[in-house]
Amino acid sequence: MMTSAEIRKKFLDFFVSKGHTIVPSAPIVVKNDPTLKFTNAGMNQFKDYFLGNQKAPWSRVADTQKCLRVSGKHNDLEEVGVDTYHHTMFEMLGNWSFGDPANPAAGYFKKEAIAWSWELLTELYGIPKDRLYVTVFEGDKDSNLPQDTEAQNEWKKWIAEDRILLGNKKDNFWEMGDTGPCGPCSEIHVDCRTDAERRQVDGATLVNNDHPQVIEIWNNVFMQFNRLKDGSLQPLPAQHVDTGMGLERLVRVMQGKQSNYDTDIFTGTIAAVEKIVNKKYTAGDSKTDISFRVIADHIRAISFTIADGQLPSNTDAGYVIRRILRRAVRYYYSNLDYKQPLLFQLVPVLAEQFQDVFPELQKQHEFVAKVIKEEEEAFLRTLDKGLKKIDDIIQQSVGKVIAGTAAFELYDTYGFPVDLTRLIATENGLTVD
Ligand code: GLY
Repeated sequence: MMTSAEIRKKFLDFFVSKGHTIVPSAPIVVKNDPTLKFTNAGMNQFKDYFLGNQKAPWSRVADTQKCLRVSGKHNDLEEVGVDTYHHTMFEMLGNWSFGDPANPAAGYFKKEAIAWSWELLTELYGIPKDRLYVTVFEGDKDSNLPQDTEAQNEWKKWIAEDRILLGNKKDNFWEMGDTGPCGPCSEIHVDCRTDAERRQVDGATLVNNDHPQVIEIWNNVFMQFNRLKDGSLQPLPAQHVDTGMGLERLVRVMQGKQSNYDTDIFTGTIAAVEKIVNKKYTAGDSKTDISFRVIADHIRAISFTIADGQLPSNTDAGYVIRRILRRAVRYYYSNLDYKQPLLFQLVPVLAEQFQDVFPELQKQHEFVAKVIKEEEEAFLRTLDKGLKKIDDIIQQSVGKVIAGTAAFELYDTYGFPVDLTRLIATENGLTVD
């Protein structure tokens, strides 16, 4: 079985063999783009090349990018830990072609992107072809966008036609944010169910249907437009390729696991939590197991973001990190019966695990751990009182709704970010006004 480090390396080596230069991950925190707080996709650092504002110094690059999807257009926070394949922070493996009309041969487009993704997945990684499905954009009349027959025809060279599915604008037209580069995309999905399950229900019907075992692993975006503020689409000066493959999901497929948390990316952290709290993770759906997953996930987002220069604070990006951290604290406090700072103890585990790929954490691990410990201590000082307060509020609330004034008091006096209040409300069958 390949380790996650070997799987990551194989991706990068493959694209070197196809003429790509490997570049480092950009920091997770975005400082120079008012449309974005955090890197939410591998392509963010290349936005100006796509828009034609700057000329790319290379035609083809590949990397593994630290991404965070907890706010804005791409937000997976609510799913994290409850399911087994969404994350706050994840690594996005990507390959890019920056089109140059003066030198078209230097770049590539749909034909090569599709052929290479198939070659890598089926030949180098050995994923069985009868477990793969691909989707292409069906077009959108309202936006005057045609069906992507070019991508469809390229896929027909490699995969049976009944495994090429059409997808709508939501799934098959990728946009970085409310504005910015965008284009039709083609996703690759893997059916990880057992053979018996696969015989019973056609995998094609489960693609893009939130099935935990039929998951998207790779998205090939064909960048052709810039979405402007007024919502219109302006053709880009050149066509580009932007792909993103979630390493955690790929590793799960390659290691034959049912859950991302059972791969070697997470098992070290989960084992460390087990030791600290003296409880066992059993990979189920109990509050205890969800808490293990939330902690193993959130500590990555918190540690790497701090290592990239964003301290938790009361505003903007800093508050997003504080929210994630407080969410994790409440999970161990309430569900793992651990009442002291826990998260900071996991920093050395992560720092060692990622020292070859993201050495920035190892270099600053003492500082990162100190910041996290202080944040945990601060929140733990008001958490118990805050939990009692929200219990009272829930008992007294009328019509299954927590009033806005109560949510504000929880925030203002007890340091409860509103999403934490909302989470506890949901657990009790309530909503928040
Ligand atoms: N930019 C490609 C993706 O995030 O899926």
